[in-house]
Parts: sequence; structure tokens; C-alpha cells
Amino acid sequence: MLIIDIIFIVITFYIVTKLFKSKNLKVARVIALLIPIEILLLIFNLFTSHKYLLLVLIIYIIIIIVLGKKFYLDIKIKEIKIENNKVTNKIRMLYIADFQYDKANNNFNIKAFENLISIIEEQDYDLILFGGDYYNYEKNHDQFIKHFKRLIHEYSYAVMGNHDEKWKENIINTFESLGVHSLENKAATVTIKGNKIQIIGVEDLWRANPNLELFDQNKETLNILLSHNPDFIDDITQKNIDLILSGHYHNAQVNFFPKFGLARIISKYIYGSFFVNGMQLYVTSGVGGSFMRGPLSSYIRWFSRPEIVIIEFDKSTNKK
Ligand SMILES: [Fe+2]
Repeated sequence: MLIIDIIFIVITFYIVTKLFKSKNLKVARVIALLIPIEILLLIFNLFTSHKYLLLVLIIYIIIIIVLGKKFYLDIKIKEIKIENNKVTNKIRMLYIADFQYDKANNNFNIKAFENLISIIEEQDYDLILFGGDYYNYEKNHDQFIKHFKRLIHEYSYAVMGNHDEKWKENIINTFESLGVHSLENKAATVTIKGNKIQIIGVEDLWRANPNLELFDQNKETLNILLSHNPDFIDDITQKNIDLILSGHYHNAQVNFFPKFGLARIISKYIYGSFFVNGMQLYVTSGVGGSFMRGPLSSYIRWFSRPEIVIIEFDKSTNKK
């Protein structure tokens, strides 16, 4: 029975995510209502036939809830070094995504953001790139911006994520007024340290319509693509993209065992570096995110450290 319950939950989760991907949002939400019922059935079956297993499970969940908060603050610096013959002088880009600033005026939320800011302030970088999913509730806009302002750099670029879609106009207007260039199916070219860089941004794959029409493929620029959702890589036919930066999946946020989180069923690109059709993709685990929603939401991470990504491009040592 237990295994059948789990199989039902996994199948329902898979169907719901496929429906979200195909933008059948209403059907997805209705079918998603089955998941809590299936979880209740699973708990009932555990109670009645596997009491010892249930005890172990409860202890493990308590450990995750208690220690998961500590891991949430344990931000790592992920350094990626890339050689590219379009680069004339070494350049460092700082990339962060998935803030999902959920609870305004929550002490832990404020502590987590202050922790993030203090780590970023110690880094050496030439431009900053934001990968979307800024907050989950519109009422958090002002408090999020109050913290976010401190991250803005002379060269700041951003795309929106699926959580931003409903109020993205508000975010984009605020970002633009603060000097953060919003790139929703847009590209911007900038010269930093003698390097010509084209930063391309696309809309979110799940909630909007990403396209690369405005991307100038013929430029001899270093071309960096920001796409909140990494799965967009499978739709790309353009060439000359030097690096794609994505996020969205939070490296599954809570993996009950290493590399065993439900999000892994949805996508091939949950976390890390990938090489697809000659393109390099890096998917960050993000800097925030809450597990669950509403009153059950909790700031925890388990086998999924949050991270700040620093990409250092340098000229190629391979002289052709
Ligand atoms: Fe997302």
C-alpha cells in the first residue's frame, strides 16, 4: 500500500508539472488538489501498518526543520572560470537568483537577507546579474526593494521569474528607476574593462513567452543569456551564446536524501553545469526560497545549499 501511495503522489506531481509547462494552469491547479489527499492517505497507511517507520520519519522531518534553517543561511560562493577568446581583459560577473522573499517583517527573512548582503559585499565583481523570482506576495514589494537596493551595482541586469509574472510591471518599473536594466526578451550591450558584452534576457518559460528575436547573433560580443527557467535551453536554435544562466528549481530545496527531491522528476536541469548543443548552461541553487506555501511555508534547505555564483571570464590561453 505504502509504495502505491508514493507512486500515486509522484505520478500526480509529474502530471501537474507537465500541465504547468504546457500552460494549462487551471487544470493543473485542480489536479494539484489531489496531492494533499494522497499525502493524508500515505500518513494514514503509515500510522496503521508501519508505526516504527513513521517514528523514524517524524524524527527525520524534525531534524530537517531544525537544521534546515541553519543550512538556509549557509551560502556558498560558487566560482566558475571560463576561457573565451572574445575576452580581452579578465571580467567577473556575480549572478544570483530565486530570492522568493516571502514573509515581510519576519525576523528570519530579514536576517537571511542581511546575511546575503554581507557576503555579496565581500566579493569582487564587475557587474551583477539577477535571475528572477524576487518575492511571492505583492505586499512584500516595498520591504524587498529596501533590502534589494543595497545589491545594485553600476552595471545591473535582471530577468523576471514565474513568481514575478503577476506584478512584473511594478518590479520592472522600480528596477528601472533604481538603475537595474530589466531584460524581458531584450538585449543590452555594454563595454566593461574593454570587453564588449551582450546581455540577453528572456521572459519566463512557464508563465510568459520567451524568445530570442532581438538577440544579435552576428556580434563579436561575449553573449550571456539570462533565462529564469533552464528548460528553455531545449528551445534554443541560435548560435554564439557563450553562457546561459538560470535558476528556478533551487536544487530541489529539500532533498530528503542527497539528490533525491521531487523537483528532479520535472527537469533534467535542476542544478549545476550542463553542456547542451554546444552551449554552456549553469543552473544555480539560488539564494532563497521557502519550502511549501502559506501557513506551512518554512525557510529550510536540505542537501541544497544556497549559493552566489561568480563567473570569471578570461582570455583564452589556447592560441589558435
Ligand atoms: Fe521560479
